[in-house]
Amino acid sequence: MEEYNKLLKQNKDWAQSQTEKDPDFFKRLVNLQTPHFLWIGCSDSRVPANEITNTQPGEIFVHRNIANLVISTDLNFLSVLKYAVEILKVKHIIVTGHYGCGGIAASMSNINFGLLNKWLRPIKDVYFKYQKELEIITNEQKRAERLVELNTIEQVRNLAKISTVQKSWANSEFPVLHGCVYSLENGVIKHLITIDSKTELPAIYRFDFKQEETEDN
Ligand code: CO
Repeated sequence: MEEYNKLLKQNKDWAQSQTEKDPDFFKRLVNLQTPHFLWIGCSDSRVPANEITNTQPGEIFVHRNIANLVISTDLNFLSVLKYAVEILKVKHIIVTGHYGCGGIAASMSNINFGLLNKWLRPIKDVYFKYQKELEIITNEQKRAERLVELNTIEQVRNLAKISTVQKSWANSEFPVLHGCVYSLENGVIKHLITIDSKTELPAIYRFDFKQEETEDN
């Protein structure tokens, strides 16, 4: 209880100091949400989107899960994506992995994590796809760091395979998809990949929007 009450107290202090610094802060936010970015990041408590990008409330629409995965059957994620692309009309979607990711480390082990096995499975698939490249790296930490990067890149590619994104590309140049990785050690975000409306997708993943459309596009 004490820890929880401390959070509520900290919130009151924060709200008060925001109002003192900028009397219109909350009034502005209540009436306006026009973020240009959708952030897909890890749930890890050390990687908070606003703090590490030095942005304010209202600037980034955020979705976080273990190991920043883009799963094409995840209703939660798909709803966030659809809202961000079609209603908020975000210009950029940023998948941000981070070195030292517990989800990545767990997926590289053979430990049975029960329910979590199911969530981590797509990371094992990324490992398997890049097994040759990864197993040349003898240092275990460096190998995990490379898997963090490859996993992030694959999640950006997964985004491009989703019809919500492709449908938007049929009518505009947005959203631009980016993948990057955050270092817990120095706080710096490193760019990895950009995919935009002009990037050629493998034919099997392309949807033809001239065909009859279904309700869920
Ligand atoms: Co993580």
